[in-house]
Amino acid sequence: MSEPDALLHDFQSITEPLRLEELFTQPQPTELEIGCGDGGFLLEYAQHHPERNFLGVERLLGRVRKLSKRGQHAGLNNLRLLRIEARYVLDYLLPERAFSAVHIYFPDPWPKDKHARHRLIQPDFLPRIRRILAPGGVLYLRTDDPPYFEQMQETFRGSEEFVEESTPAVLSEITTEFERQWLAEGKRTHYAAYCLNG
Ligand SMILES: C[S@@+](CC[C@H](N)C(=O)[O-])C[C@H]1O[C@@H](n2cnc3c(N)ncnc32)[C@H](O)[C@@H]1O
Repeated sequence: MSEPDALLHDFQSITEPLRLEELFTQPQPTELEIGCGDGGFLLEYAQHHPERNFLGVERLLGRVRKLSKRGQHAGLNNLRLLRIEARYVLDYLLPERAFSAVHIYFPDPWPKDKHARHRLIQPDFLPRIRRILAPGGVLYLRTDDPPYFEQMQETFRGSEEFVEESTPAVLSEITTEFERQWLAEGKRTHYAAYCLNG
């Protein structure tokens, strides 16, 4: 795998659901990160867990390319990347009940009231995440934005299918690129985790 963008999936179709067994060399539990950016988190986490596969979704080409290069340099064969819009991939391309964990860290907060409808985590996100998580799978969320954190909690509070958990320290210790910037500015990270009833 020495060609550029080797970790970046080359879509032959954007209407057929993805087959994870064709993306990864090892059949093992798979975790997803949505909005992975340059992938500081995924890069470190995938190195810690060769016994799991990791799929990163990001819409900006420059960011996934950078992550692909970094992943290749690190010799990762358990990491693959999709350059695509999150809602589309969630609704149409990701297989059902396929992911043991989903990570969404610092999704765009859309702070103005009139833009809040663009936030990823809101009531219409529940069926999307329920469809792709394996039973017992966990959604991990982080944000620096208190109003968005409220909205995340509110979204899951009314759902009987998800049980709130705490984020394990081994996970929260791995910071993301944006998180390092916010922490340096004195902001704090808010964490939430929700397990899908098995
Ligand atoms: C604030 S950054 C956080 C990046 C990374 N998770 C981190 O914490 O360092 C949000 C990322 O999500 C990506 N993103 C935002 N909306 C998206 C969407 N609808 N589909 C795919 N990626 C999206 C952005 O391009 C950006 O890289």
